[in-house]
Amino acid sequence: MKPIFVLNGPNLNLLGKREPEIYGAETLADVERDCVALAAELGHSLRFLQSNWEGQIVDWVHEARDEGAAIVINPAALTHTSVAVLDALNAFDGPVIEVHISNVHKREAFRHHSYVSLRADGVIAGLGTEGYRLALRRVATLLAG
Ligand code: DQA
Repeated sequence: MKPIFVLNGPNLNLLGKREPEIYGAETLADVERDCVALAAELGHSLRFLQSNWEGQIVDWVHEARDEGAAIVINPAALTHTSVAVLDALNAFDGPVIEVHISNVHKREAFRHHSYVSLRADGVIAGLGTEGYRLALRRVATLLAG
């Protein structure tokens, strides 16, 4: 089975350090460790990646076309701006789940629109970093079906 790609956009490398009142105290390394453990339990492997560069996220989505079974993506600010990430995801055939740590709908109006949601099979927002694990469970269900 091909790995599940877990893609993280700009500033998520600062998770645990930036705005902890919004994003919590866990670091991205903590999230990665928990995702790797859960994926193993579910019988899957992971590629867990983060970049501050839009083009790098696009390139990883392209890689997933051949090498990935599914994509879990927290596009961070690119959610609200990036037609390029949406177009790349539209060229990917497997399941896509969009994750936001915070409840974007409770925040500024510019966070209420997501380009990525036009492609995502499911969206999780406001469940903290647990959202990543819930997304992996959903992906495992979809891949089993
Ligand atoms: C985020 C929400 C986005 O609006 C924001 O730009 C982020 C993180 C979240 O996980 O809650 O960087 O995607």
